[in-house]
Amino acid sequence: MTLDSLYSRYQSARRELTEADWRHFTGARRGMTWVTRPAADRGTVIAVTQVMFAGDQGIGELSILVDDTWQSRGLGTELARHALSQARLHGLRAVTVMTGRDNNRMIRICRSFGGRITGANSHVVDFSLPVD
Ligand SMILES: CC(C)(COP(=O)(O)OP(=O)(O)OC[C@H]1O[C@@H](n2cnc3c(N)ncnc32)[C@H](O)[C@@H]1OP(=O)(O)O)[C@@H](O)C(=O)NCCC(=O)NCCS
Repeated sequence: MTLDSLYSRYQSARRELTEADWRHFTGARRGMTWVTRPAADRGTVIAVTQVMFAGDQGIGELSILVDDTWQSRGLGTELARHALSQARLHGLRAVTVMTGRDNNRMIRICRSFGGRITGANSHVVDFSLPVD
């Protein structure tokens, strides 16, 4: 995973997750986390997708991290689709996404799932995606 990709996901210069981070991300009451592995190489994780439950009931926060060599092949789009379908099963009304203003792939994903912009500054843009 390049530092660029890690920065795009975490909005900070983070090289790895600590045990505490991982506990936070995988605590069942805090949200849902999925890891993706290629069928031909089950020992390798190539993506991590998360919907964390926000303070506001019915709202989740979606984030996706795809391994660089697997990017731009449609995987992020399919993972977003999966996350939204799971969000629906969990009764969420909407999921938010915070991403870099220059993150064209994530912005296209947000738009393709009906996302509307709810806020922006010079670095990041916030989307809200409906969960129908
Ligand atoms: C952002 C990210 C999740 C997208 O996943 P991906 O598998 O690379 O994206 P996809 O292949 O599904 O493509 C998504 C869209 O971007 C377009 N796209 C693909 N490669 C692109 C490129 N190099 N430049 C511009 N657009 C591109 C695709 O055509 C698609 O748009 P469309 O549906 O309108 O055709 C992934 O690149 C990633 O993990 N990046 C680093 C971490 C990150 O930025 N996470 C998002 C913050 S939450």
